[in-house]
Amino acid sequence: MQLMPPAARPACWALYAAFSYADDLIDSGEGTPEERGRRLQEWRDALEADLTSGTSEDPIRLALTDAVWHWGLDLRDLLGALDAVQRDDDRKGVATWQEWRERAHAQNLSWPEQLMRMLVRCGLPVPVRLRDLPGFTRFVEGLYLTDTLRDLVDDLDGEDLWIPAEVLDRFQVTPAELRSRQWTPAVQQLIAHLAGQAREWLENSRRALRDTLPLGPSIVLDTAVELFGAELDALVRAGSAVLHRQVRVPRHIEWRILGPARARAAVVWRLTLPPGRDTVTDTARTVAARRTDAASPTGAAAGDRLGGPEPLGSRIAEPPLPPRPHRDGVRPPTIAAAHLPQHVAIVMDGNGRWATGLGLPRDEGHRAGAMALRDVVQGALEIGLPHLTVYAFSTENWKRSPDEVSKLFAIMRAELLDGELLDHDVRLRWVGSPDGLPDDVADVLRGQEHATRNRAGLTLNICVNYGGRAELTQAGAALARAALAGEIDPARVSEQLFAAHLPHHALPDVDLLWRTSGEIRTSNFLPWHAHYAELHFTDQPWPEVDRRDLWEAIEAYTHRKRRKGAASVQASVPARNEGE
Ligand code: IPE
Ligand code: IPE
Ligand code: MG
Repeated sequence: MQLMPPAARPACWALYAAFSYADDLIDSGEGTPEERGRRLQEWRDALEADLTSGTSEDPIRLALTDAVWHWGLDLRDLLGALDAVQRDDDRKGVATWQEWRERAHAQNLSWPEQLMRMLVRCGLPVPVRLRDLPGFTRFVEGLYLTDTLRDLVDDLDGEDLWIPAEVLDRFQVTPAELRSRQWTPAVQQLIAHLAGQAREWLENSRRALRDTLPLGPSIVLDTAVELFGAELDALVRAGSAVLHRQVRVPRHIEWRILGPARARAAVVWRLTLPPGRDTVTDTARTVAARRTDAASPTGAAAGDRLGGPEPLGSRIAEPPLPPRPHRDGVRPPTIAAAHLPQHVAIVMDGNGRWATGLGLPRDEGHRAGAMALRDVVQGALEIGLPHLTVYAFSTENWKRSPDEVSKLFAIMRAELLDGELLDHDVRLRWVGSPDGLPDDVADVLRGQEHATRNRAGLTLNICVNYGGRAELTQAGAALARAALAGEIDPARVSEQLFAAHLPHHALPDVDLLWRTSGEIRTSNFLPWHAHYAELHFTDQPWPEVDRRDLWEAIEAYTHRKRRKGAASVQASVPARNEGE
């Protein structure tokens, strides 16, 4: 809780409260198991109704409802986790590790994924489907086994024992023997084995996940591994006491782990999260979401809004929200539509150098770059730009390390699935080739292209696996094929006909081409469409850019004289370009 970004903590507490409430109810020992099961079922039904209506009489349910609405949490998955807790009442322990694992996953995987959703909402593009990351289920198993050992004393008092029967058999320990709380050599070996197993799972998962998660979430993960490791140390040190009382990690050890981790997390969140989200927009987002979901007969719709395994594009806000204001309240310059460029193209360069300069890995630069693009898109909407094209991945970028490339695609996917552009009036178009691109990236690009096809505000062309020469070559090949087939006369190949054979022939000519980070080249970007573009180069790396830089570039453009080969500016070009 203390390691999460402050804005997300109340919702983390709400999740914790709801889960603890359900867990305590089942474990309470009050009444018969049937009565407890019925009470949990009633509570869960009431929660489902509250989540649909958006409010609640009960403080815990109200907190959870608020968290779900505010952060767009996956309601279906959360209710599924509660149902799994409830199923505990129908069974008496587990026979095999396989069963134990299924129970652990069903009850526990949803919660950490909700935290990731919050991070995405805070502006950090992180993978939400943690269960798909290699090592993550092991991590949850490590936590859960530690938890089972910590709660052993309660379980011995109650009816259920959650250590798999197969491992009891292996160590020749009977449940009755455990319940008698005798510290026999067999029991000692069993406990030592389980503690060792939990530690191994935690450590292995930490190694597997280290390179997959961005810095913030990996601090949370690392610290959890250390805290649970300390708990295992305490359990092992306690010896026979584990059968008689709950063992706690000494406070000073807890603080030795948590103190520096909190300081590190605070710095990392400050560096990697965009500054405080605008509360007005958040409210608007919630209102829009409620409006969309009101049409749905079940609470499941709130979960549907957020991508993940659901159909692509299901999170599209309808109607789209107005642009999110700049955090400092700055407004765009007033420029008449006739003076605006119709099409701005950007080489978003310098992510890697920005990150390296801060001692961060390159992918942190791409993450920060995604945030910069969010702001620039808001600025484009505010100023009324019709077309924005951004260079996100060139055909030359395959020369980078597979690690950087796969992280870049993961960031791109997360951003496309759950980024804020889905909330606004943005139509997404993919420019580039599917050749060699991972299917999941191509699918999400196509999916969001389709989902946003009716938007009319800003067309955002995203160049992924794009190369200018490849594009021209394709047009040449298409023309040659058509000529061979007798469909066109080679003598009549005009510029218009050539353009019509470009793979992305609907892309308008670029008026203004802007590159950040001090490089003065176009790097195979839009050679056909940008043939007469005004060029604009700035020094700051892309992650430091925000919408004001776009507005400055556009302002500067309005003062350019676009003669296009004529002796003076042509009549069709607006007067402002005459050099007011
Ligand atoms: C631009 O930043 C993003 C992509 C090319 C994907 P870079 O990654 O090129 O950053 P530098 O130029 O190495 O700093
Ligand atoms: C151009 O930047 C491509 C993108 C921004 C996606 P690069 O950083 O790859 O280009 P070079 O290597 O500096 O020419
Ligand atoms: Mg570069």
